[in-house]
Amino acid sequence: MQGAAIAQPNIALIKYWGKRDLERNLPAVGSISITLRELQTRMLLDFDEALREDQLTVNDVPDQKMLPRLSACLDRVVGEDRMRAHIRSECNFPIAAGLASSASSFAALTVAAADAADKSLTRAELANLAGAASGSAARSLFGGFVELENTNDGIAVGTLTAADEWPLSVVVAITETGPKAVGSTEAMEISRKTSPFYSSWIDRQAADLDAARTAIIERDFARLARVAEHNCLKMHSVMWASRPPMVYWNAATMRCLETVRALQARDVAVFFTIDAGPQVKAVCLPEYETEVEAALRAIDGVRKTMVSGMGPGASRGTFG
Ligand code: PMV
Repeated sequence: MQGAAIAQPNIALIKYWGKRDLERNLPAVGSISITLRELQTRMLLDFDEALREDQLTVNDVPDQKMLPRLSACLDRVVGEDRMRAHIRSECNFPIAAGLASSASSFAALTVAAADAADKSLTRAELANLAGAASGSAARSLFGGFVELENTNDGIAVGTLTAADEWPLSVVVAITETGPKAVGSTEAMEISRKTSPFYSSWIDRQAADLDAARTAIIERDFARLARVAEHNCLKMHSVMWASRPPMVYWNAATMRCLETVRALQARDVAVFFTIDAGPQVKAVCLPEYETEVEAALRAIDGVRKTMVSGMGPGASRGTFG
């Protein structure tokens, strides 16, 4: 029994932060993201009767830390009485550093597992299964601009606008390549329990989702930029006001924001967004990609930049 899949990370423009059901991993708020193209996770699964435990290698290095979450995801897709598996994951960008590697990893794992077990699941079912492992992974099942909505009993995910209908570019400024100190699940719970801003964050999300959705449908870059930056800074304000505070930024993160502001002052169509890590993602119209990348690369403390267009949702794929 073998399965393979490829998935791309997604970057949230309207963020998910907080869970309404910890056990089922259901988000407290809806979110809107863009799925990338050039950043990729490939996953190969080999179920093997002779194995007593699942085995994981990430970029050819054995990994025990991520394994329990991946095993639980396989249990949900294939069933707990399944054979154990060799899981091989290859990622062409830094892992667990606020670059949404969990989104592409769990989206790819879910698709590869369904493939190996010969289960024909709908994309909605796959998104729910991936979302149970990592909230943001549900969005990587779909391409382009993706909205995740909360429903009574779960989530509904779908493409708002396809990648080729309004292609944007993303320049990722990597300011730190190591893994983050506090994982997002733990940090979200700390925010929920201690941040005085948490409830207003939840209450105001619907308005941000409406504004972003309208901006996307109308291809209104300036409006999307305003609401996305506001939503990002609001999420980080919730984090900063938590006890203990969750500050993922470093000095280079701040310098990237200043550079984006300077570009905007010269009428470059670009905005920033930051997730649970110190990396800055600058989203821009494709004609400004070269200028934005050069400006971010020149910043003291930016170790590397990656540029990506928008891409498709996770799919079955070959490996190697
Ligand atoms: O899906 P998780 O548990 O990796 O959480 C993702 C949280 C953010 O990246 C900060 C926001 C988002 O919507 O992707």
